[in-house]
Amino acid sequence: MIVAVSGKGGTGKTLVASLIIRNLLDKDLDILAIDADPDSNLPEALGAKAEKTVGDVREELKRETGKGEIPYEMGKWDVLEYKIMEAVVETSKFDMLVMGRPEGSGCYCAVNNMLRKIIETLSNNYDVIVVDTEAGLEHLSRRTTQNVDIMLIVTDTSKRGILTAQRIKELSDELDIKFKEMYFILNRANPKKKEELLRKIEDTGLNIIGTINEDENVTEYDIEGKPLIELPENSSSVLNVSEIVNKILYKKEIR
Ligand SMILES: Nc1ncnc2c1ncn2[C@@H]1O[C@H](COP(=O)(O)OP(=O)(O)OP(=O)(O)O)[C@@H](O)[C@H]1O
Ligand SMILES: [Mg+2]
Repeated sequence: MIVAVSGKGGTGKTLVASLIIRNLLDKDLDILAIDADPDSNLPEALGAKAEKTVGDVREELKRETGKGEIPYEMGKWDVLEYKIMEAVVETSKFDMLVMGRPEGSGCYCAVNNMLRKIIETLSNNYDVIVVDTEAGLEHLSRRTTQNVDIMLIVTDTSKRGILTAQRIKELSDELDIKFKEMYFILNRANPKKKEELLRKIEDTGLNIIGTINEDENVTEYDIEGKPLIELPENSSSVLNVSEIVNKILYKKEIR
C-alpha cells in the first residue's frame, strides 16, 4: 500500500505522515517513510537522521560519470538503484528515504522526477510506503505520485488551504490520475466551529475522512524540537490520526 500526504504548504502534511507511521508501528508491517519535500523535515518528526539523500546520490553519480544528467531511464537504473538503497536509513521500527535536493541552483524537479520510479521499485520491499510530498500541485503535474494508492490531502481551516485541496482533486481528474482512494483531512480544527466548516467543505465535493484538532502537545513538541512520532499516546492528534488510519484500513464509516 502506497500512501501519499499532500496539501498546501504548512497545512500539516508532515504531522499527518509521521503520525500515520506512528500508528502503523505496532502492526508488524515493513514500513518505508519517504520525505519528498526539498525543504525536508520528516526526519526530525520521525526522530531519524539521513546521512545521504537521493539528491546526494545523484550528485555523486554525476561526478563519477562526468555526465550532466543521469540517464536513469536507459539501462543505468541498476547502478542508481543500488546507490539509492544505500541512502535508505534503517531504524529498528521503520526505514526512511529522503529525496533532498540538488546542490546549488539545480532544479528540484530533477530529484523528484525520480520519485515515481523509486516508489515503483521499492514498493516490492515494503508493506506500506508513506510519502510526505512537497507542498502544492507539482507532484501531480510531474506524475511523481501517479502510482500512489491512497492520496490524502490535508487542509487547514483557511480558505486558501481548502482551495489548494480542491485544486489537487481537480488536477488529478484533469490529468486522469486515478488514485484508488482519495480523502481529505481537516487539520487544526476548532471543535466549536468544526461541524459548520465540514458542511461547507463537503458542499465543495471533497470527501473528508477525518479531522485533527489543534493539539497543544504538538505545539510544545515543536517548541522543544522533539520528534512528533514520540507524542504521548493520549494526545488528541495521535487519537485523531488513529481514527483516520482505522477508517482507511478497515473501511469504517467515513467521517
Ligand atoms: N493539529 C495541530 N496542532 C498544533 N500544531 C500543528 C497541528 N498541525 C500542524 N501543526 C504545526 O504547524 C506547523 C506546520 O505543520 P507541518 O510541518 O506538519 O505542515 P506541512 O504541511 O508539512 O508544512 P510544509 O509545507 O512546510 O512541509 C508545524 O509547526 C506543526 O507542528
Ligand atoms: Mg512538511
